Formats: sequence, structure tokens, C-alpha cells
Amino acid sequence: MANRNTEASTLSDSTTGFSTAPANVAARATDLRALLRHHQYQYYVLDAPEISDAAFDSLFRELQALEAAHPALRTADSPTLRVGGVVADKFEKVEHPAPMLSLANAFGSEDLYAWRERLKRFLPAERHGELSYVVEPKFDGLTVVLRYDHGDFVLGATRGDGQFGEKITDNLRTVRRLPLVIPAGGATTSMHAPLQLIVRGEAYVDKADFEAFNARQSEAGERLYANPRNFAAGSLRQLDSAISAQRPVKLWIYQALVLETEDNAPETHSAMLAYLAQLGLPVCPNLRHFGDDDFDALAAYLAEYGALRATLPYEVDGAVIKVDSLELQELLGFTGKDPRWALAYKYAGEEAVTRLNAIVVNIGRTGVATPNAVLEPVAVGGVIVKAATLHNEDYVRDLDVRVGDQVVIKRAGEVIPKVLRALPELRNGSEAPWQMPSVCPICGEPLVRPPDEAATYCVNSACPEQLVRKVEYFVGRGAMDIEGFGIKQAEAFVELGYIKSLADIYNLPWEKIAALEGYKEKRLDNLRAGIEAGKQRPVARLLTALGIRFVGETVAELLMQHFSSLQALMDAPQEEFSAIHGIGPRIAESVHEFFLLEPNRALVHQLAAYGVRTAEARAPVGAQPLAGKTFVVTGTLPTLSREEAQALIKANGGKVAGSVSKATAYVVLGENAGSKLDKARELGIPTISEEELRALVA
Ligand code: IVH
Repeated sequence: MANRNTEASTLSDSTTGFSTAPANVAARATDLRALLRHHQYQYYVLDAPEISDAAFDSLFRELQALEAAHPALRTADSPTLRVGGVVADKFEKVEHPAPMLSLANAFGSEDLYAWRERLKRFLPAERHGELSYVVEPKFDGLTVVLRYDHGDFVLGATRGDGQFGEKITDNLRTVRRLPLVIPAGGATTSMHAPLQLIVRGEAYVDKADFEAFNARQSEAGERLYANPRNFAAGSLRQLDSAISAQRPVKLWIYQALVLETEDNAPETHSAMLAYLAQLGLPVCPNLRHFGDDDFDALAAYLAEYGALRATLPYEVDGAVIKVDSLELQELLGFTGKDPRWALAYKYAGEEAVTRLNAIVVNIGRTGVATPNAVLEPVAVGGVIVKAATLHNEDYVRDLDVRVGDQVVIKRAGEVIPKVLRALPELRNGSEAPWQMPSVCPICGEPLVRPPDEAATYCVNSACPEQLVRKVEYFVGRGAMDIEGFGIKQAEAFVELGYIKSLADIYNLPWEKIAALEGYKEKRLDNLRAGIEAGKQRPVARLLTALGIRFVGETVAELLMQHFSSLQALMDAPQEEFSAIHGIGPRIAESVHEFFLLEPNRALVHQLAAYGVRTAEARAPVGAQPLAGKTFVVTGTLPTLSREEAQALIKANGGKVAGSVSKATAYVVLGENAGSKLDKARELGIPTISEEELRALVA
């Protein structure tokens, strides 16, 4: 497999433990990088994995371990960088190679035909015959600009104000679909890397991933995002790239801004997209080509597009129509901020009016009672909507929605629609204000609303609905991710008494299940295999799955980076949690209290007894002598490059920042340091030499 990173470290200072990696170790790291890149490409881009997740994880961890032991082996394109870990103070500004333009909008066929007329007025008649068009989705995410120099991903930025964007290279590296090297796929391609390539695309999050993330955040009492676009943008604008790494951000590339290549450059937009796809960049396959004499078909396609886009897993806020010939694009040029050669076709209005047939109360895994609207089915934005959330008692009261009302509903960025308001002028007098029931609709025990809280709870910990929801959460995405196990199985197994505690998931009476309807042999085998496979998930997943308040995926990862086993975590004093960077007192208290309860400790032991992984094979992260301290490296150090010094700091638990602030513990000072030294002096931050840094970690 092609390999661009044969240079290993040439450092040698064996007394510090930061020595040159032996040649065989360097070679192994090189092989691992190439292997991992290949398999990531197979998995994320081609969707055709060749090895199991477990095999991949083991290669990945091997490389991580090598790099941790020999930081100089960590190359800029190492797949391990995808897990993030670079912490910035703020984002640098970068200038785009050309202004990032926007698109003119069209709202119906008339606008569309008018656009085509304008094109023809602008172009000389003898070139009209060359007109043809491409229609592609208008992705609703965060616009990003990526630069590859000689095939290496070197810079990624947001659109910003069109002229300057924010540099978010480290965060973008964590996007699995983004190849760090092109052509991607190693030996599988014979293409040349372009000398330079700058592309534009949209980073986005699938609707289902957005919903799942928000559901978890809401259960954990953490911040919610309003829609998938905000989620994508928020995920990539994190100062700590480790957080970005845990977000399910995807990417479509739709334009080349700069292409310098020794080969023949493509001459049409569609050929350019095909070329980009061949290089391994993610290009959306959802694309249609129309000749100019097919313009009526194009218009009809767009009219139907509203329904089609509802079937896509990601948000699309319209379609983009582009002139295919790049030469004609050039001729057509721009008006103001918009290119003449492209048009955004948008869909107005995603609101509808329907009848509120009932308000039902659902019980969540923590006992929260949520009112939900049961609606007369109605089409909104291409899908049939039957239900909407009403959040809590106050929300219903503030909106004054009553059963029998005509209500306005909206499907915006999110999949779960909202009730916006009631239309009281259409009431006939039979509609009564709604009240939260006094007892749980499932178990009949009282519902309680604590003072100062918006939520109402079923406080019966034996409520079967709570258990169903706990099981659903445990087996769900981001948690144990058990294939073939969903809400249906959770409901059935709890109702039949097969699951009385979460641990029972691993002790199901398979002979009885085999006799149930809908569990034919294959289905049953798949479910069993799914449960078995889930036992080996990383411990952080299990910790998430336990559903501790405030412990979502990110927090669980942070905790498990610190503890090597759930036992160690259960036995730790509360202060040890708060000492971890990123864990606040609220989380520390919640985790501590959870494990003070004997049934929760017993649950972990029972899970372990059933063979669920509760300890990581790796050794504990170690003494982490720099934990909790932030360093700034400046100037030229005697032996380490800046990256190596930063890697050394991080490998020992410290954080690295790009500028000096009050939060800086030490400035590591080399020769020719500039303004950072001034700033350190001004703030009274101690400066240390490379040698002193080495002493700190020795
Ligand atoms: S082409 C010169 N194609 O929509 C403009 N843009 O309203 C070239 N967008 O922020 C843009 N999907 O980044 C193009 N398939 C697509 C797109 C797309 C989404 C974004 C674009 C811009 C916004 C314009």
C-alpha cells in the first residue's frame, strides 16, 4: 500500500523515555496507518467493511499505544488523530481562495423557466446547444472548505462571512468520511494526487442520529440542539476536537474551487464530481442530469422533489440546479453574490393545520411523564404526521391547546414535529383545557411534580414502562447498540416477565422466545448473535447504557479514559471525578450517587458475570503527571518540534492551548519566542524549558 510517511523520528534521548522508536516499531506504525486508512475507507466511504469492528479496534488501539509510547511516530495524517484531542482557545481566521458565494432562490416553475431564459439571453446563441443541467440536493448543514496539497488534507474551514472562514482543520479530521489522504483507498487506486485541490461541501448529520443524540441529551439533562444543521455546526465548532470526534458528522462534497493537476481536468460539473468521487471524496450519488430539451422533465422532477427528499436520511432544504459545462459556468459568471449558472429551488411552507384528537402521556426511562399530541394524520413537508411532542404540563398550558382543537403543526429541521399553536377561533365549545393526569397511565401509581421542576414523574421505580424504556435505551444506538433489539422486543420481554432487570438481557429464556410469534430461527439467531456481540463493546458504551443522569456518550468516554474498569469507577471517591477535566460537580455527584446504591453495583457485577466487558484490556492511563494543566508551546525548542512537544504533553494528560491566558499553567519556551512570551510575563505565567518539561513527565 502506498505510504507517504516513512520518516520516523530522529530524536534520541533515551533517558527521558522519549526516545527514537526502533526501526521495526516505526515500520509497524507505518503499516498500521496504511491498514487503518484502507479499512476506514472501505467502511465509511464504500460502506463495504472487510474486517469486523473488533478487529479494526484492535489495530487502532495498537497504533494508539505505539504513538503514545513514541509520540514522534504520530504523523499529521494518522488515523488516530480522528479521535481528536487538539484543544484550541479560539479558531484562527483563514482567507478563502475566492469569495464563497451563495445561491439565488427559486420557489416554483415560473422562476425556473425565467432563469433558463436569463441564461440564454446572456450566452451567445451559438452556445445554447451546449446547455445541459445537473440537479442535486441542497444539503442543509454547515458549509466547509477543504484543501489538499499533494494529496494531504492540510486545511479545513467554515464558510464564515464568505471571505474569511474559521479554521476547523482538527475538528474536520474527525469526520470519518473525510479522507486525510487522496487518492483514498491506498493500493486500490492508480490515480495521481492532484497538486492542489480545494473543494467545497456541506457537513451534516443524519436526521436519525440527530434525534438519537437529542433524546440522550434530554434524558441526561444536557443541552439540546434545535435541528440537525445546528447540531452539525455545533459539533464542528468545538474547541476540543475530542468532542467533535464523538459526533456523527457526515459530509458531501459538491464543488471544486481549485484544481491543479498534471492530468486532464474534467470539463463538466458532473465529470468533476465523478473525479472527486474517484479520489475518494464523498460525493452524493443522488444526482440527475437533464438536457436543455428535457427542461420540462427537469421542472416536473423538481415539483416532485419535495416528496423525494423526505425519504432521504438527511435534511435537504431544496434542490440545486447547475449548468453542467464548466466552460459555460465560467462564461456566465456572477451577479453580485450569486453565480448565474446555478439556482436553488426551495420549498416553501412546512406547516399544516390538523385536529388534535387526544393528548396521551408517555413514561420515559427516568419516570418523566411527557404529554404527546395524537393528531389527525396530515401531510407536512412530504411525510404524514400523526403525533407531536407537547414536552410538559406548562407547555400545554401556555399554548392552551385542547383536545378537539385545530392546531398548527410544523416540521422544521427536526423529524419530530412541533405543535406551534391552537386556533381557538375554530372551537365549538366542547373543547376543555387539558390537565396532567394524577396517576401513571401504565402502573396506576401517583404522578408527582416536584416544586421548581417543569417535569412530572411516575415515582414508582417498579413501573414496567420505565423498565421498557431503560431496556430500549440500553440496547440502543450510542449505548450497547444491539442489532435486532428495539422497542418491540423490550416491550414484549418485559411484559412476559423475561426481563426484570437490565442484566436479564443477557439471560433470556431462548426456548420460550423461540415459541413466540415472529421469532423464526434466523431472527432468533440474529438477535442472540447481536446480544453476544454487544458484550464486547467498549466499556464507555456500557457506562452510557446504564443511563446515569448527565452521563451521555461524551461524559462516559471522558470517565473511561480515566478509569480502566467500572469497578475502579464505582470505588472512586467523588473528588476523583471532579478532578477530571470536563466533569463538573453536577456530573460527579450524579455518578457518585448512582453507585452508592447497592442495586446499581449489583447490576454491574451481574453484567460482568454474564460476560459483558466491564474493564478495558489496556492498562490504566497511568500517573498522568500533567493532568489538569494547560501548556502553551512557543519558539524553537532544542530537540522537539512543536508538534512533538504537544504530543508529549497530551500523552501525559496535559492540555495544549494556542495562546496564553490566565488558564495557562506553563509556557514551554524555546528560542525566538514572540508575543506569547510577552503575554506570559504580563500575566505572570511561569515559563519552562524543554528540559524542564521532560523532567515534569519523567
Ligand atoms: S453549489 C457558488 N451545491 O447552499 C455557490 N451549494 O444557499 C456554489 N449548498 O451555503 C454552491 N447544497 O454551500 C451548492 N449541492 C449544493 C449545495 C450547496 C448546499 C449550500 C451552499 C451555500 C448555500 C446557498
